[in-house]
Amino acid sequence: MKVDVLLGLQWGDEGKGKVVDVLTPRYDAVARFQGGPNAGHTLEFDGKKYVLRSIPSGIFQDGQTNIIGNGVVLDPVLFRQEALELEASGIELRKVLKISRKAHLILPTHRLLDAAGEKAKGSSKIGTTGKGIGPTYTDKISRNGLRLGDVENAAEAKAKYEEHRNAHLRKLADMGAEADMAALAELEKAWFEAVDYLRTFDIVDSEFVVNDLISKGKKILCEGAQGTMLDVDFGSYPFVTSSNTVCAGACTGLGIAPNKIGEVFGIFKAYCTRVGSGPFPTELFDETGKTIRAIGHEYGAVTGRERRCGWIDLVALRYAIMINGVTQLIMMKSDVLDNFDTIRACVAYKVNGKETSQFPFSIEDGTVEPVYVDIPGWKTPMTGVTSEEQFPTAFKDYIAFLEKELGTPITIVSVGPDRTQTIERRK
Ligand code: GDP
Ligand code: IMO
Ligand code: MG
Repeated sequence: MKVDVLLGLQWGDEGKGKVVDVLTPRYDAVARFQGGPNAGHTLEFDGKKYVLRSIPSGIFQDGQTNIIGNGVVLDPVLFRQEALELEASGIELRKVLKISRKAHLILPTHRLLDAAGEKAKGSSKIGTTGKGIGPTYTDKISRNGLRLGDVENAAEAKAKYEEHRNAHLRKLADMGAEADMAALAELEKAWFEAVDYLRTFDIVDSEFVVNDLISKGKKILCEGAQGTMLDVDFGSYPFVTSSNTVCAGACTGLGIAPNKIGEVFGIFKAYCTRVGSGPFPTELFDETGKTIRAIGHEYGAVTGRERRCGWIDLVALRYAIMINGVTQLIMMKSDVLDNFDTIRACVAYKVNGKETSQFPFSIEDGTVEPVYVDIPGWKTPMTGVTSEEQFPTAFKDYIAFLEKELGTPITIVSVGPDRTQTIERRK
């Protein structure tokens, strides 16, 4: 049995949470493999809206196993908050959720280091979510991290924590960002309470759980966070997150062998957004950008920040499809463009006056100029459409254009935020 992977192809917020929830009934388990509470995955059904941060988007279906893998970084305080909210709405989380003891923990001082790092960068700051993601992964890679398994034994947790906290305090002092010790003491109290709460969950060696499921012929869906253009290796470095958001991340973040990967669902919006700083070749600074933001409610699920909006970038998408080995595409939020007379798609970049369809080393502002083609809009409200047969001709033409440009079939089209507003195309 192969494991399927669903991941974002742009700069995050493509609608991963919604589609994972829709696909979950076909799987026995859903697993997160990287990222942490920098993610905000929105699900809507039965008139209710949920935003998940660290917990997989498979928890609202029929009791599938949900796994937080070793590649995830976990903030106990934010996890507790998220879990309590879910429990309050009737989800029996403990029955379905398993957490890897190899997942690294975000400490309060990681968040202070994140803030200090951003401050030190000044105008070249990354615009992080401020959740301590970078410093936590830095500790992991430099072999200084604290894992969930390290605090499983309550008697040892404090001493281990303090060792890490003290190293962080020295780092903060070096950066001229001395911590407010009274405020930190409050944060630490909440952190230890949350670790106590975390211990009441099923903490496992998730690589064995995952491989056991595979060998029993069970189906697993891996849920990516962020997007390919935020990948630490292949994204718009240094304006990226600190994990491998690409398909390979599912292997390292869960302990899945590469030859076990089956379908790779690549998810993208019919336009493009980005939150935080960093280059964005097709960004729109005009009224059109504002219109997309307003209609698409493009505000961060985690930070509430305005998302920057622009036209779809097929150069970046082709690159993302290549890196991830995408087998099926899922197009989201095309309904946001329902009223447009003309839609634009970037099909190539001009780099130093030369046209290229290959994603370059740098897309820094001013180095690439998008080459656009204009596509007629469909000018039809699509949010109530329930089958492919009802697609207007101009919309079918748009899909055919994208499939040709991207060399990959679009098998699902989403026309609204609700679970039900999802159309599967015939293969
Ligand atoms: P994720 O991080 O990839 O899970 O995506 P987010 O939840 O951060 O952002 C996607 C936003 O778009 C959420 O507010 C969703 O409710 C919403 N959404 C998802 N699919 C659609 C769609 O097809 N149309 C519209 N209009 N909204 C959608
Ligand atoms: P989901 O899973 C959109 C962005 C931040 C910032 C950069 C680094 O909801 O798609 P970090 O806090 O990770 O160090 O920030 O990455 N970023 C996201 N943008 N969606 C996300 O997650 C993101 N997670 C991080 O805005 O530019
Ligand atoms: Mg999001």
